[in-house]
Amino acid sequence: METIKGLKRTRLCGEFTVADVGSTVTVMGWTQSYRNLGGVIFIDLRDRSGILQVVFNGEDDREMFDKAYTIRNEFVLAVTGEIVNRAPEIVNNKLATGAIELKATELRILSKSETPPIYIEENSNVREDVRLKYRYLDLRRPDMVRLMELRHRVCKLARDYYDENGFLEIETPILVKSTPEGARDYLVPSRVHPGSFYALPQSPQLYKQLLMVSGMDRYFQIAKCFRDEDLRADRQPEFTQIDLEMSFVNEEDVMTMNEGFMKKIFKEVLGKDLQTPFRRLPYKEAMDRFGSDKPDTRFGLELVNLSDIVKDCEFKVFADTIKNGGSVRAINFKDGGAKLSRRDLDGLVEFVKTYKAKGLAWIVVGENELRSSIAKFFKQEEIDAILSAMNAEVGDAVLIVADKDQVVYDSLGALRLELAKRFDLIPEGVYDLLWVTEFPQFEYSEEEDRYVAKHHPFTMPMEEDIKLLETEPQNVRAKAYDMVFNGNEVGGGSIRINNTELQAKMFKALGFTEESANERFGFLLEAFKYGTPPHGGMAYGLDRLVMLLAGRDSIRDVIAFPKVKDASEVMSAAPGAVDEKQLGELCIKLELPEENK
Ligand code: AMO
Ligand code: AMP
Repeated sequence: METIKGLKRTRLCGEFTVADVGSTVTVMGWTQSYRNLGGVIFIDLRDRSGILQVVFNGEDDREMFDKAYTIRNEFVLAVTGEIVNRAPEIVNNKLATGAIELKATELRILSKSETPPIYIEENSNVREDVRLKYRYLDLRRPDMVRLMELRHRVCKLARDYYDENGFLEIETPILVKSTPEGARDYLVPSRVHPGSFYALPQSPQLYKQLLMVSGMDRYFQIAKCFRDEDLRADRQPEFTQIDLEMSFVNEEDVMTMNEGFMKKIFKEVLGKDLQTPFRRLPYKEAMDRFGSDKPDTRFGLELVNLSDIVKDCEFKVFADTIKNGGSVRAINFKDGGAKLSRRDLDGLVEFVKTYKAKGLAWIVVGENELRSSIAKFFKQEEIDAILSAMNAEVGDAVLIVADKDQVVYDSLGALRLELAKRFDLIPEGVYDLLWVTEFPQFEYSEEEDRYVAKHHPFTMPMEEDIKLLETEPQNVRAKAYDMVFNGNEVGGGSIRINNTELQAKMFKALGFTEESANERFGFLLEAFKYGTPPHGGMAYGLDRLVMLLAGRDSIRDVIAFPKVKDASEVMSAAPGAVDEKQLGELCIKLELPEENK
């Protein structure tokens, strides 16, 4: 095999233009394609930047021509030659380098390739598991290169922006103490301390707060986070945050700082001017109007509360739901009458059931009459009141769910998105950024039969709600905010508690004893005794942010080596078994369930 000894690459393949005609240059890259036209061989040479056509002419140099004859796809070549104009009839306007070619005078084959299992082309339709098995080949494809470039750009802009604003990039440890924050921890056994475990951080949360105690003032980090949870298209077991924390700030300060970051990203990555400040939507309003704490507000189909209208109706399902503290809400699907057949409506009933709704009542407004699954239970005045509350006109379909609030929100929120997707109601090219604010401090965990922190136990409650901590925890709002981008939670954070007494109260409200709080978070509580500045921050999901900027649907597309649904990595086949010896050193004995033996 030949080497690059004595050769120096002039530039990347895609960077040459007609301005280079006449220069002698050297390029190196992969063979995208080869065509042998008898006396002339054409090769498309590819690297990260694009493609340059290379020509080997048998009449110029027979030996070189014979060598070129052996080239196959994905061979790695170094070619020296002269940049010349292409003959007018073969100018390719689709290629940036389509008006020129490289007339080869020297060829070296640096590495051969077997026939690759996937073809290296834009927008490949190869199955994702095959792409992931050969990810290093998949990453050669131009659309993947662009995604990796975009991700790099966003990281670079983050470093620049936060640096310009006085943030220090500080690394925090990866082997940490297990302090469950919501998701399950990944554990790492300690060899030196048999029976003890590190956890991989779910986020740098506690460390960044400690850095504020240290007086670092402003911290940021592009941080790997690990959460052992069920995967979805927007979730990975290891993912990356742009994580930051600021001292002496309130919510507005953190939000404004981060609007500035998004503005910069939009300008420099998409060439778009983003309007700031973003809209702020209190959590309650987001739920009431969109059934979601990450509302997609690019289209209507808003929820309307019909509880007052139907609370005394004869349809027991509705009346009883309200008596039991639930609600009856609906969306008006404009012109839904014509768009939804009876079968579609039955399909929607099944759809909401996957969100635990018990049913979906519907009223389709006709020219002279109604079609409805429930009209027979209602007086005319009640129907009129419902239609009027819904602004329903001839042709519209009103879709109603009665249940506990959470179920109504979940099911109608999902139905809204489903209808928008199915009937193309989401305008293209619209970027919808907003903050959801005033999150509840607690959420009730049926599983644990107690209140748990909605954000985390260090989140500062709103001042006016502190008095409710013991009496009405369900009504305490937090100084927490999420950034929502086209209906996705791209980031979130809060102002933190910096007062030991309030923190103790918070732990109590969360059902921790002093002892159990100390056992888990003692090091943080100890630190807080020595002068803690008011502080707050947030973290972006970098993968989600890049995915949305790229207009993709899966974060796997913007991660070089992602994991698949069962949390394995297809290419290296991680996780895998380890030697008895390794386990022995860790004093670990396996007791596997039957099916895994
Ligand atoms: P949170 O848990 O909301 O906050 O995480 C911040 C952001 O990270 C992204 N994210 C994920 N992305 C991919 N895969 C996952 N499994 C995953 N989980 C979360 C989301 C989310 O908005 N320490 C706090 C931040 C703070 O309070 O400063 C935290 O981790 O986009
Ligand atoms: P039923 O009397 O159970 O046949 O229900 C009549 C209609 O009301 C059907 O269209 C059901 O889908 C609908 N329905 C039943 N339960 C609910 C509910 N909790 N919320 C909304 N609609 C419901």
